Amino acid sequence: MSLDLSRLDTERIPAHVGLILDGNGRWANARGLPRTAGHMAGEAALFDTVEGALEIGIKWLTAFTFSTENWSRDPEEVEFLMWFNEDLLTRRRDDLHAQGVRMLFAGDMSDPRIPDRNRKHMKEAAELTRHNHRLNLVFAFNYGGRREIVDAARALARGAREGDIDPDDIHEDVFARFLYIPDMPPVDLLIRSSGEQRISNFLLWQSAYAEFSFPGILWPDFNRQHLLDAVLDYQTRDRRFGSAKDAVRD
Ligand code: IPE
Ligand code: MG
Repeated sequence: MSLDLSRLDTERIPAHVGLILDGNGRWANARGLPRTAGHMAGEAALFDTVEGALEIGIKWLTAFTFSTENWSRDPEEVEFLMWFNEDLLTRRRDDLHAQGVRMLFAGDMSDPRIPDRNRKHMKEAAELTRHNHRLNLVFAFNYGGRREIVDAARALARGAREGDIDPDDIHEDVFARFLYIPDMPPVDLLIRSSGEQRISNFLLWQSAYAEFSFPGILWPDFNRQHLLDAVLDYQTRDRRFGSAKDAVRD
């Protein structure tokens, strides 16, 4: 499937799109299937969306695949999600690499609950694709926005204790260098599927001025056309970043 990009303003492509994949469980429930079947169906949606991002020319796409709060789910579902995240990486890695996609991982990787195999495969995928630059595809895995900010604060505090950083020199740009992926740009467009309208601890720092899109589509039904629709809608928005001036736009 190829997108009709004739209405796309190539001057205003969002540099970074965040994706909160939501609704897998409801999709499965509606079909009398186990929740895990919904996660499996969500894989095709994610990679169709990645294809769409490549077509549209989006440079950063971050997908929320496992949150620091998801550990509280049923142990069987958690175990499935661990296995599935790893399995998906190994199956998709070479294809993504061939397409010039750089794979990155954002999250608390020191968590002992993450199986070593996952950690190993994430490391390998990041290594393999590190020189690619067509699309930066970030998997937010064992990710929590508050934890990311606290981890950065801790690293900065340590630096100050060691005398490497003067607390008076800590500004926003300095702080941002201590986040999980220092070169990650701010989120321009944040999409959450399934109709829920919450940020759920996703990219809190990076989404300070994000535009939000809440399509009422369960994640397994999402595809690249929905991504394009969200981008086209984003292109109609006035982004003022706190200023009172009218946005400069024709
Ligand atoms: C998102 O779908 C799956 C994850 C990223 C873990 P959900 O599992 O939250 O689906 P619902 O909200 O229960 O329908
Ligand atoms: Mg949910």
